[in-house]
Amino acid sequence: MAETLFAPGAAVPAAAVAPAIQTRELAKSYGRITALAGLTMSVPRGEIFGFLGPNGAGKTTAVKLLVGLTRPTSGEASILGAPVGDRLTRRRVGYLPELFRYQDWLSAREVLTLHCELAGIPRSRRSEEIDHALTTVGLAARADDRVGTFSKGMQQRLGLGVAMLGQPDLIFLDEPTSALDPVGRHDVREIIRTLKARGVTVFLNSHLLSEVELVCDRVAVVDHGRVIALGTIPEILGETNLVRMRITDLSPSAEIVFHRFGTVEIQNDWYAVRGMDAERIPDLVAEIVRLGGRVHAVEPRQQTLEDRFLQLLGGTS
Ligand SMILES: Nc1ncnc2c1ncn2[C@@H]1O[C@H](COP(=O)(O)OP(=O)(O)OP(=O)(O)O)[C@@H](O)[C@H]1O
Ligand SMILES: [Mg+2]
Repeated sequence: MAETLFAPGAAVPAAAVAPAIQTRELAKSYGRITALAGLTMSVPRGEIFGFLGPNGAGKTTAVKLLVGLTRPTSGEASILGAPVGDRLTRRRVGYLPELFRYQDWLSAREVLTLHCELAGIPRSRRSEEIDHALTTVGLAARADDRVGTFSKGMQQRLGLGVAMLGQPDLIFLDEPTSALDPVGRHDVREIIRTLKARGVTVFLNSHLLSEVELVCDRVAVVDHGRVIALGTIPEILGETNLVRMRITDLSPSAEIVFHRFGTVEIQNDWYAVRGMDAERIPDLVAEIVRLGGRVHAVEPRQQTLEDRFLQLLGGTS
């Protein structure tokens, strides 16, 4: 049983409640290149999990390992409670590969039919599945047009349609919006949210911070094959809420007031208070005024994920 690999001696959870994805020290090397270095993580059912990192970070390698397209050099992984590669489990997993290309001469419906066959979806259910996928990805009107006549964005939508055939419980999307315009990106986010509403777990590879920030419950930031941060967006941002205030007439002895709110750095008339919840700004201002200070400016600033991402990648976390 996969679970016993992760918790020897502990009670084995029922497969039904096993995490969607669980990995332990999962690693892959190609010769001297470490594509993925010891990934240990767990993604619970129903979560939208973002795997975020720059080009070459190891995102596609991780997905290929998890869908069983490539074997790990070391480490373990289980999917929906079963070891990677389990045939029955594979049917419950959808996958949108990176840089895929379908045969130009097939129509969208033929591509979907072919994948229904490959996925072993019974004949009786195929037409309903295909219509559902076409409608969800907004291609119903082009169903019988050849893929060769599709724009890149339409091909990407078709790829999403293929990934959701058979109503999988877990879907891997490797850069699903790389060819899409802003409207298309918005549409994909909506599709992902629809999937989540149905209880599907989505593993989303992306180098686009904005995409991950808008749609993911939790994110792993990867670089050079290593996870350098993992958590919800606020967790990754950390205690970085910063409020800058320009204050005059506050006596040095009154500066102790800031300690109740956060840490403070003072430069001339500017006070930078870190680690303070923005909700508490009015209380702090009231205290300062009570102590004789005059408040000229209050500038709340939350670090963006982009700032944090660059900070993490620069190794200055
Ligand atoms: N089949 C392979 N043979 C040799 N090296 C490989 C192979 N696949 C991946 N790599 C190497 O592993 C590293 C991680 O590649 P991977 O494709 O996983 O990155 P990625 O995060 O998906 O990047 P991108 O954002 O560009 O898609 C890179 O250094 C890459 O050159
Ligand atoms: Mg990739």
